[in-house]
Amino acid sequence: MLAEYDLIGFGSGIYFGKYHRSLLELVDKLPMLENKKAFIFSTSGLKKLRFIHDFHKPLKENLKQKGLNIVGEFSCRGFDTSQAAKVIGGINRGRPNEKDLNQAENFARGLKDRK
Ligand SMILES: Cc1cc2nc3c(=O)[nH]c(=O)nc-3n(C[C@H](O)[C@H](O)[C@H](O)COP(=O)(O)O)c2cc1C
Repeated sequence: MLAEYDLIGFGSGIYFGKYHRSLLELVDKLPMLENKKAFIFSTSGLKKLRFIHDFHKPLKENLKQKGLNIVGEFSCRGFDTSQAAKVIGGINRGRPNEKDLNQAENFARGLKDRK
């Protein structure tokens, strides 16, 4: 079904440093999708950090192997009550908030023109 679309988005929360297993499994099963654009998005407790906590990278690599051209990525904080955050009643309460949603909307609008 995805082959009918020119631009495809893949996203989930981040769990133990990775996208949700069901999303990663889905991507593994995808056929080659050449000449199609993709974007990825996530919510996470912690900010994505290049070299240290770049949870987008493995998904991006897998999508590229399927022939998809990644034209954008978006990440914002989500309410997190896992692991150490649980002790203090969670972090990022109320997130994603209105500002996050506005940024997501701007991101989505900007995708139209990306090649
Ligand atoms: C079991 C579990 C593990 C998590 N692991 C991470 C993590 O490794 N890094 C991170 O930044 N956030 C982590 N989080 C926080 C989630 O990414 C965040 O709460 C996200 O917004 C959840 O999205 P959801 O509400 O769609 O499940 C974890 C949350 C849970 C419940």
